[in-house]
Amino acid sequence: MSDAENPQRQTPDAEMLLGFWYRALPSAEVRGLKKAMLLGVPLVLGRDAQGRSFALRDSCPHRGMPLSCGRYDGETVECSYHGWRFEGVTGQCKEIPSLTADQKLPVEKIHATAYPCREQDGFFWVYMPEPGTSRSGADLPLVPSVPIHSDRYKLTHLTAAMPTSVDHGIIGLMDPAHGPFVHQAWWWRSRHSIHEKKKLFEPIPYGFRMSAHTPSSNSAPYKLLRLYTDADSITTTIDFILPNLRYEQVRAGKYWFSSLTTVTPITREQCRIDATAAWNIFRHVPFVLPIARYFNQKFIEQDRRTMELQAEGLRHNPALMLIDDADRPARWYFQLKAAYLESRRTGKPFAHPMNGPVTLKWRS
Ligand code: FES
Ligand SMILES: [Fe+2]
Repeated sequence: MSDAENPQRQTPDAEMLLGFWYRALPSAEVRGLKKAMLLGVPLVLGRDAQGRSFALRDSCPHRGMPLSCGRYDGETVECSYHGWRFEGVTGQCKEIPSLTADQKLPVEKIHATAYPCREQDGFFWVYMPEPGTSRSGADLPLVPSVPIHSDRYKLTHLTAAMPTSVDHGIIGLMDPAHGPFVHQAWWWRSRHSIHEKKKLFEPIPYGFRMSAHTPSSNSAPYKLLRLYTDADSITTTIDFILPNLRYEQVRAGKYWFSSLTTVTPITREQCRIDATAAWNIFRHVPFVLPIARYFNQKFIEQDRRTMELQAEGLRHNPALMLIDDADRPARWYFQLKAAYLESRRTGKPFAHPMNGPVTLKWRS
């Protein structure tokens, strides 16, 4: 039965992919030292006096005390147990107060575990390396960012915690069929507007793209957009790229809207959706930021609520199905993930599960 496979069987332990950048927390939440959990790893985040962001494992290399309990003077994190002090960006130990003048322990060789960390588009991003690999700053991949298409634009972001594994978070995000049921609203669409859709998908490195097209005309925001931009064609492109990146771009003449949404594994049972959106559309209309936030927040809250309820259903490990064509993106996600893990395991090149463009049809 190839059309109805169990996602849990495909990824039995909600495996979290290493070797990628992940959003750890919104930048605004980090003041002084801040605890964060990422892929089941406890972290402490902060910034040094030069404004460089850092991420340390929240565990003192001496006796495992959480470093987030310690003091931070903008230079070094002082462990609250025996006062060892660590530099944030490198994790290097700077002082062990109990040492006497004649004790020659090479303090500088002791390190708290430090992860590469950058701030981008309002978030702390942390690179989670594969075990046994140490990558220096130079050979790290670029931190994902929201594509920007003009000098002036607006940017906003929001965040929602979800009580499900990252896999359910991602397939929910890429799911084309829940819209009329979960996202009913007068300003968006009603369930009666459901109609057949046909979209072209194509493989891209580590992911797939829903190719540019004129977005569904049955939604109020798009009608408004067409009126306002007076553009002949409005195109949107949606990309999904491993491990958890969803880029959506709308172009209408000189106007554009662009977003990067991620689903971050916090632990195996919890994930968080973070979305950053940038645009130059409606830039001069007052209150555009609160309005945009309201629409997005309501949207994400509907997804969050749905996943909260779904988590109840998943608690007893039911058998699940993936059907054609509406669940094909979900199946590609599991296949991409399996292909990535396989290439890491064998050292062979990544074998993309799609071998060319595919048209999918569904009603939504
Ligand atoms: S546990 Fe941190 S200094 Fe001892
Ligand atoms: Fe949704």
